Amino acid sequence: MCGIVGYTGKQNCMSILLRGLGSLAYRGYDSAGVAIWNGTTIAVTKERGKLFALEDALDKKPIEGTTGIGHTRWATHGEPNVVNAHPHTDAKGQLALVHNGIIENYRTLKEQLLREGVTFVSETDTEVVAQMIGKLYDGDPKKAVLRAMNKLEGTFALAILFRDEPDTLYCVCNGSPMVVGRGRSGSFVASDIPALLPYTRKVTFLENRQMAILQKNGIRYYDRDGNPIEKEITEVEWDVEAARKGNFEHFMLKEIHEQPDALLHTIEQYVSSRTGCLREDAFPWTKEEANQLKRLRIVSCGSAYHAGLVGKKFLEHLAKLPVEVEVASEYRYSDALYSENEPMMLISQSGETADTIAAMRMAKSRNQETVAICNVIGSTIARECDRTLFTYAGPEIAVAATKSYLTQTVVLFLLALDLAEKRGWLTHSKVQEQLERLKRVPDDMRAVLARKEQVQAYANRHALTKKMFFIGRGLDHALCLEAALKLKEIAYIHTDAYAAGELKHGTIALVEDGSLVISVATQKPLLSKMASNMEEVRVRGADILAITNGSSGMEEHCDEQWDFPEVPDMMAPFLAVIPLQLLAYYIGVARGCSIDQPRNLAKSVTVE
Ligand code: AGP
Repeated sequence: MCGIVGYTGKQNCMSILLRGLGSLAYRGYDSAGVAIWNGTTIAVTKERGKLFALEDALDKKPIEGTTGIGHTRWATHGEPNVVNAHPHTDAKGQLALVHNGIIENYRTLKEQLLREGVTFVSETDTEVVAQMIGKLYDGDPKKAVLRAMNKLEGTFALAILFRDEPDTLYCVCNGSPMVVGRGRSGSFVASDIPALLPYTRKVTFLENRQMAILQKNGIRYYDRDGNPIEKEITEVEWDVEAARKGNFEHFMLKEIHEQPDALLHTIEQYVSSRTGCLREDAFPWTKEEANQLKRLRIVSCGSAYHAGLVGKKFLEHLAKLPVEVEVASEYRYSDALYSENEPMMLISQSGETADTIAAMRMAKSRNQETVAICNVIGSTIARECDRTLFTYAGPEIAVAATKSYLTQTVVLFLLALDLAEKRGWLTHSKVQEQLERLKRVPDDMRAVLARKEQVQAYANRHALTKKMFFIGRGLDHALCLEAALKLKEIAYIHTDAYAAGELKHGTIALVEDGSLVISVATQKPLLSKMASNMEEVRVRGADILAITNGSSGMEEHCDEQWDFPEVPDMMAPFLAVIPLQLLAYYIGVARGCSIDQPRNLAKSVTVE
């Protein structure tokens, strides 16, 4: 949550900061600001609302300067207004800083500063940090920042500009990502990779309580005690285009369309192009270890949780491995019982989700093996887990997860095949058959995407629907949960997903004339049961859309049917998800919703 960007170099930094903030706006968008050294003082401009408000303000009153910091905010402490927006300064105007994260001990620190006579202007925890560094500053910025950092509890990524050193940025972090890199014109810092991509793909990730000091000719790194350290440079494979909207109206639509390629790129990493077999080194467990596994515990949030539910079906069906899937925010405060040979799998696009990180650390503290499925190299989860299975979705900018969710399910499918073979439930040739079919799924996905006008027309007809239900069984139920989440967050429609057989235990009381029911019916052994459930809602007045795996004979039980090219049941989620994502997207568009930045949401939930 929140986006940080900073630059020091040869160029005018205002446009660099705005461009960086533009690429990070998905991390928070209720206010934004910049602080730039203008040759005389640190000039600060802040605006409430989305980034264009700040752009307008800077258009009217530009700030000239070559060193600056910027921030786009998702409010945690204090309402989203100009005063609470970042950057924050200390009382003497010695410094300006931007902050991501939450300072947990800010009240104690604030009380102490109040006793020392400091006056605060905002309600934020961030201003406490600015004021504290200001108090500790005696002419040595590095010392003041390190001393302040060692007093802070909680999560933070801080970029700080001092009036006395106006060509230098001081950056520290703890539990909140910070990535730095050198470009041709200077040095850059950001909270997330996309902001750096136009300038460099060679980046360095700061680790907890490390410091980076950025100057136009270089970057120096220090440990928490101020000792110089060497840092590794990582080459990021994402390119700038991947983080741009291109010809698409919204990132979400672009990212939905990128799914065939995302699937292909993910397969390429796990299946050898030479042998066509699953790559021995790509999966976490040897044959012996695979056979010792008693259970897998998947912990994640939101769409990543839903991917976990799909993965459970894959792993239990194909590899006969019992799987428990838990919402991270619940798991971290539960009794969290576990047994031997039960690894924990953390699924996270960003690798920075606070609750998922907390669950991971619980596992690590008791020596439980941790395996991640993650999209961001260098993220906290990718760094701290014993093993990471990366998804190759590229940068996902829209708040709504689409291609990250898809690639998570694909990795889980490949893992299930790997374990199925190692545990003796599938022969090598059966696994190869599945892989061969999987490689053709991207073409099937393109065929589904080519029919988006049909989805759009349907969405336009039903955009004003007040009640909507998603029903399905087994794998389809897991998918329905994701479909309902997409519709809630993008189109602000109150909807939910139900196990179709569970309707008559209560929910069916809600069904009446005009209720819209989306029935996901892709699993052959369950089709007759689904047909009965669809009839049950139809006779109560529901309008039914069925999503089916090939032409399945369901057309007589619904008002409209969308089928996709027939695939084995286990691969149906990869195709069925596309019309469901498009449906949420087009209904959101028809309702005039803010697609890429839905209200109240931010891309990565780095706070509890
Ligand atoms: C879904 O569209 C959301 N973006 C959200 O549910 C997301 O999946 C969740 O916050 C988890 O994020 P993560 O994958 O980065 O951990």
